[in-house]
Amino acid sequence: ARTVNLAVIPGDGIGPEVVAEGLKVLTAAAPEHDIAFETTEYALGARRWHETGETLPDSVEEELRGHDAILLGAVGDPSVPSGVLERGLLLRLRFAFSHYANLRPVRLYPGVGTPLAGVRPEDMDILVVREGTEGPYAGMGGVLRKGTPDEIATQDSVNTRLGVERVVRYAFAKAAQRPRRKLTLVHKDNVLTYAGELWQRVVREVGAEFPEVSVDYSHVDAAAMFFVSQPQRFDVVVTDNLFGDIITDLGAAVAGGIGMAASGNINPENDFPSMFEPVHGSAPDIAGQGRADPTATVLSTVIMLDHLGLDAAARKVEQAVSEDLRVRAGLAADERSTAAIGDDIAKRVAGQG
Ligand code: NAD
Ligand code: IPM
Ligand code: MN
Repeated sequence: ARTVNLAVIPGDGIGPEVVAEGLKVLTAAAPEHDIAFETTEYALGARRWHETGETLPDSVEEELRGHDAILLGAVGDPSVPSGVLERGLLLRLRFAFSHYANLRPVRLYPGVGTPLAGVRPEDMDILVVREGTEGPYAGMGGVLRKGTPDEIATQDSVNTRLGVERVVRYAFAKAAQRPRRKLTLVHKDNVLTYAGELWQRVVREVGAEFPEVSVDYSHVDAAAMFFVSQPQRFDVVVTDNLFGDIITDLGAAVAGGIGMAASGNINPENDFPSMFEPVHGSAPDIAGQGRADPTATVLSTVIMLDHLGLDAAARKVEQAVSEDLRVRAGLAADERSTAAIGDDIAKRVAGQG
């Protein structure tokens, strides 16, 4: 059997609810594919912070480093100042483990409702490759004259040649493997001229290594419009950390909802474990009610299985989700609990659907 050492960070709010279903489905897939998931759970998030003041102790980061992959629910809680857990845990892991390629597919599965009239599944099959370690997320900047009328807050966007080049090359390689072989750079080079020019130049230079991939460019404001009006324009999208964050919530909304949007924080070199998590957050407004959709987390485990080279298991779980989504079209919204959806997907994976 192939053993996968999986670190699990359920986190806050609906995080533990959806992670439980992701693990349920993985457990159902394991026997047929001869995989043994060895899971270690890490209690991090709001409760840990209230009890100990810790977000991510160094010793835990070291332990995480030794795993094959990390499955994360979500972090963030109204009782904790905004940013403490998001920066102290989530971003710290993305940075420490060089998760520079944040994969966020925007796919409309057959049977799933979209608010876009006339859009078919074949019109919406986008892979957003969001840069994961730089941009305005880097934490550069500061505050001057705080609390005075002359206060100045700056938040710098960091764009390194190395950081831009590695994610752009990764996105080109992804585009080269897809039927349409198209890469769209999404930026704002008409205003963010320093960073935009670097991204454009790197896309030109790296693009020379991929003559089979056609290159397009869209300003991020126009891209937001086209995600809604003409999603078929896009195949692979490469973009900076913040733009990628925003357009993938938009992508989730047009592709059936935030409860279905999956992501993988990938370190392509496998120097560190990659981390898989739904695009959504801890959803404090519905936490503890069994109403969260676990599909995004299950689809994130599909990205994980693919990353680990467990293709057959990945296809099996994806197929089970896709069948579940087709059946769902006939059900009332909220008809099934979080656990019931997980049960139904797990049964299909185990061949008892
Ligand atoms: P959110 O994604 O948690 O929620 C936005 C809306 O979507 C809410 O109405 C919520 O109920 C709904 N929603 C989210 N996931 C759902 C699911 N699986 N099924 C059904 N409905 C779902 O975003 P927010 O409200 O902006 O943020 C809440 C907290 O989560 C904040 O602390 C934020 O910093 C944090 N956050 C964490 C992550 C992460 O850990 N990766 C991602 C985003 C936000
Ligand atoms: C996401 C989240 C995070 C981000 C926050 C919670 C730091 O919104 O994973 O999309 O902005 O990357
Ligand atoms: Mn986000």
